[in-house]
Amino acid sequence: MPGETHSYFEEDKVGKVYDSTIMRWLLSYIKPYWKIVALNFLLLLLLTGFNLVLPYIYKIGIDRYISPTGKEVLQAEEMPERFNKSTFIRSDNRIFMDLSGIKESTKGGLENRGVISRNNYYLIKKSDGVKQVIKEVNHLETDDFCIVLTTDMKELSFSERLQLRRGALAGIKKLALIYLALIFSIFILSFIQVYQIQLIGQKISYNIRENLIKQYTSLAYNFFQKNPVGRLVTRVSNDVAALSEFFSEVLVYIGSQILTIIGILGVMLFMSPRLFLVVLAILPLVIYLTFVFRIKARTIYRNIRKKLAIINSHISESISGISVIQSFVQEDRKEAEFALINDDYYGTTFKMVKVFGIFRPMISLIRSLGIAALIWFGGKGIISGIISFGTLVAFISYLERLFQPIRELSEQFNIMQSAMAAGERIYKILQNDDRIPNPVVASNPKIRGDIEFENVWFSYDGNEWTLRDISFRIERGEKVGIVGYTGSGKTTIIKLLLRLYDLNRGLIKVGGVDIRDMDKRYLRKHIATVSQEPFLFSGALRKNVNLWRKPEKDALDRALFVSNLNKAMDRKNISLDLTVTEEGGGLSTGEKQLVTFARSLISDSPILILDEATANIDPETEWLIQEALFKMIEGKTSLIIAHRLATLKQIDSLMVIHKGEIVGRGTHKELIKEEGIYRTLYKLQEIA
Ligand SMILES: Nc1ncnc2c1ncn2[C@@H]1O[C@H](COP(=O)(O)OP(=O)(O)O)[C@@H](O)[C@H]1O
Ligand SMILES: [Mg+2]
Repeated sequence: MPGETHSYFEEDKVGKVYDSTIMRWLLSYIKPYWKIVALNFLLLLLLTGFNLVLPYIYKIGIDRYISPTGKEVLQAEEMPERFNKSTFIRSDNRIFMDLSGIKESTKGGLENRGVISRNNYYLIKKSDGVKQVIKEVNHLETDDFCIVLTTDMKELSFSERLQLRRGALAGIKKLALIYLALIFSIFILSFIQVYQIQLIGQKISYNIRENLIKQYTSLAYNFFQKNPVGRLVTRVSNDVAALSEFFSEVLVYIGSQILTIIGILGVMLFMSPRLFLVVLAILPLVIYLTFVFRIKARTIYRNIRKKLAIINSHISESISGISVIQSFVQEDRKEAEFALINDDYYGTTFKMVKVFGIFRPMISLIRSLGIAALIWFGGKGIISGIISFGTLVAFISYLERLFQPIRELSEQFNIMQSAMAAGERIYKILQNDDRIPNPVVASNPKIRGDIEFENVWFSYDGNEWTLRDISFRIERGEKVGIVGYTGSGKTTIIKLLLRLYDLNRGLIKVGGVDIRDMDKRYLRKHIATVSQEPFLFSGALRKNVNLWRKPEKDALDRALFVSNLNKAMDRKNISLDLTVTEEGGGLSTGEKQLVTFARSLISDSPILILDEATANIDPETEWLIQEALFKMIEGKTSLIIAHRLATLKQIDSLMVIHKGEIVGRGTHKELIKEEGIYRTLYKLQEIA
């Protein structure tokens, strides 16, 4: 049903981004790995630092080596104190100075006041190569330097210029090496970091999965009545995956992303407050759009998944119900139904197309606008001499690097949200204490088969009594049949006996001891149950018959014989090595029932319970099952709930249950004489 699929996804609702209880619980899983996590964080700090340095290298390269750095000092006495006069390069009566590393705005100020020249000079260290080509151009000379006006450089050929500026090229090479070393280190460190954090993420998921499964197997039967299988499976698969994503994508990164953003903004502010303001102007818009986009995309994704699930279930229902659809001529109705669902899905996916179509280009538009604004204001700054060319280049590179952590943060925001929701659901299950308690000190009597119910009252929901004042005694070896309408409480009696539920009032004794004082596993080991729905585990047939220990040949053979499973296998020409699936593929329901008969026999429990075990009889196995039944109960205390009253005719004593009460006891002959439920039931079946 399409409607039903919804309930699966109701849990997919948007949750909190942060929940301290859940967070504390999650952190408890990280605790064993805190050293690696701490190391990871340090690595990330280092990586963040390295990444911050990279654009700065551009700036150094451009400003120190590529652009001319020499200025003529026109008024030496006006130079501020902090300029070291020993770095003055004197030629005749002119003074030059290397101003690389000096803030552009300071330079601009000095220039405006005429302290230094507006002209730029290359200050070239003398070497043999330099001496060869320097003659070709106007220049000044000192003992160590040749000084060339930038505009004079144009007279030289391409190779001559390179020759002159070899020193600068060497500097760039050095920077390039540093750059390479940095990106290589980033590569190695990232590898270590990613590897470790993924490993931790996987380990933690492993632990959570393990805890969940332990919890599942120990929770009371009741829990599983209330929680659909699909949901419980989803906890282990999808929800654990969501948490794993949190551990490996968010946990340590969120800090580094924030640091990267702060770091980049800090460096920008330091390099040029003016350009920083430009970035600051577009930043809020970028952050806003990025987050809005993420949230929208996520909501739509969720809807798409939901709609797809509806499509899937509709298709699977249509296929599994194809015979009904065709024989009742429902094709048109089904097609019309599907068309609606299909339209709905199409509409939702189209929304996605729109959101992606608008937001993605919008964000890149803003990015381009940002860069354009930087070039505009930066260009003006360069022209007016307050911003260096290197600063502008580094700024553009920083701006581009700023987008990534913002985008990642918005993704992490979503991951956090699903992780918190998934965490909350898993946490709830792990906190569930719906268990049948075991006594602190168990008294495990020798169980031979006597069972006693003393004034037992029980209610599933705490409102209505399902069992009222049930009292009976079954002696060792006795065989008792329980009959009554569907829903009268027969199976409930068995569930209480097995302690799948605990009774509300009264007492149940097995072997003379209150079952609540026994180890529940001990109790259950002594009671073999066969229920209406034969359940087979996937695997070899042999493993389905023998759930406990290595097959002891005798016990196995006897179980096969008594249950008539051997006859059924002979007839089908199969052996215990046959592999069956969970659905029991290849075996009829009756044959599967024989397998569960054999399974219940092999443990040699003194008490045997057959709960409507003969209800699913197919003609092929009918007599095998009927015959097996009487062989099986031989020598055992047996409780037989049977749909077909004929099965029970030969049973010593029958118990009639009606609306949770015992309304009659006796043999078939006695009960049939009375004017009561049993006679009505029997008559009904006779007619049938
Ligand atoms: N897990 C459960 N939660 C709530 N009510 C239940 C549960 N199992 C059975 N019941 C109710 O208890 C009554 C007795 O059920 P049951 O013992 O299975 O009947 P019977 O085996 O005689 O057909 C029914 O009304 C049934 O709906
Ligand atoms: Mg029942």
